[in-house]
Amino acid sequence: MFQDLNALPEDSILGLMGKFRADLSRDKVDLGVGVFRDEAGNTPVLECVRRAEAQILRDQTTKSYVAPAGRAEFNALVQSLVLGDQHPVIAGNRSRTVQSPGGCGALRLGAELIKAAAAQSVVQVSDPTWGNHLPLLGGAGLKLQRYPYYDAATHQLKFDAMMEALERCNPGDVVLLHACCHNPSGADLSPPQWGAVLSLLQRRRLVPFLDLAYQGFGEGRDADAYGVRLLSGELPEALVAVSFSKNFGLYRERVGALIAIGGDPAKADAMQSHMLQIARSIYSMPPDHGAAVVAGILSDAAQRQLWEAELGQMRGRIQSMRRLLAATLRQKSGSGRFDFIQTQHGMFSLLGIPAPLVLRLREQHHVYMVPDGRMNIAGVTPQNVGYLAESILAVLNP
Ligand SMILES: Cc1ncc(COP(=O)(O)O)c(C=O)c1O
Repeated sequence: MFQDLNALPEDSILGLMGKFRADLSRDKVDLGVGVFRDEAGNTPVLECVRRAEAQILRDQTTKSYVAPAGRAEFNALVQSLVLGDQHPVIAGNRSRTVQSPGGCGALRLGAELIKAAAAQSVVQVSDPTWGNHLPLLGGAGLKLQRYPYYDAATHQLKFDAMMEALERCNPGDVVLLHACCHNPSGADLSPPQWGAVLSLLQRRRLVPFLDLAYQGFGEGRDADAYGVRLLSGELPEALVAVSFSKNFGLYRERVGALIAIGGDPAKADAMQSHMLQIARSIYSMPPDHGAAVVAGILSDAAQRQLWEAELGQMRGRIQSMRRLLAATLRQKSGSGRFDFIQTQHGMFSLLGIPAPLVLRLREQHHVYMVPDGRMNIAGVTPQNVGYLAESILAVLNP
């Protein structure tokens, strides 16, 4: 059966990790993999997480199954964190939340739910977008189309072109939107732009699918949820895929959630029944540990305060490395052409150079980034920023 199966090409990010490990240069800089790093280059376990884990170890009495929906208290806390306590959707009992294996699990669950409801609907995906969006949504059998979003060469959001493309969509189509910290561009919609997107979705009867993987990494916990709260409050239906990989540093524990918002409580119940059946048919039940950690932190005032402080430190480090990299490039190049790095949000920005120059950066300067020129700003440190800026300018002006 499997003798004719050909090996697939290596995943570009995982391949890059291997090459970085094998590189013996002392100057090497890793801007590839999308994980937060502290100044020492480590991806730490947060102190609030350590404390929550210690408590779980002390208190846990069973490893018996939880449920296809995961932990009920986790799901309730996630809704409040994402939508805010006073949100009309919660007051109107129109949302149902299901714990998922990471944000990826939530995206796939959402895609399968869309397929169950309207298999012919097209999902509009930003160009560019995070590479895994395409297999996660397309793998469910949905048709995908791209809408223009960002021009890497000029570092500009293509907002007008985006709106024109969405204007041409058919009612019932789904629009995948990065809620904040757009991956890979770092270019986010402003509040007025979110307002314009809302009017368009209302007028064209399109359904938003919001991907919230970096809440708290951009401008703050509430500011980063602006678009999610606006759209889900004003539209009859919405899906929100939530990830706690980055903002709780729980990458390998696989913890996330899908929030499904329906037109009324009965519609929301119907959506939930499908979500549970889909979960059951793919992985049965989500892993528990990460969700127990998140629920433990969010339900305890002191722990929550500690988390907010640690999240603020991660955000502050990314923001200060953005400023430092932009300033160093400005000083060494004598131009403001890289100032966009300072104003963008979250972990990523696109350097905006062609793939052969990205390759030259790696081969000649030991600077690693994804072939599209995506830089993980959390890989920048005060120690490597000078070398990094000189390397970038060397490949641009050989
Ligand atoms: C845009 C975006 N969405 C979703 C995810 C989901 O992450 P995870 O499945 O690790 O929670 C990521 C992770 O890199 C991401 O960048």
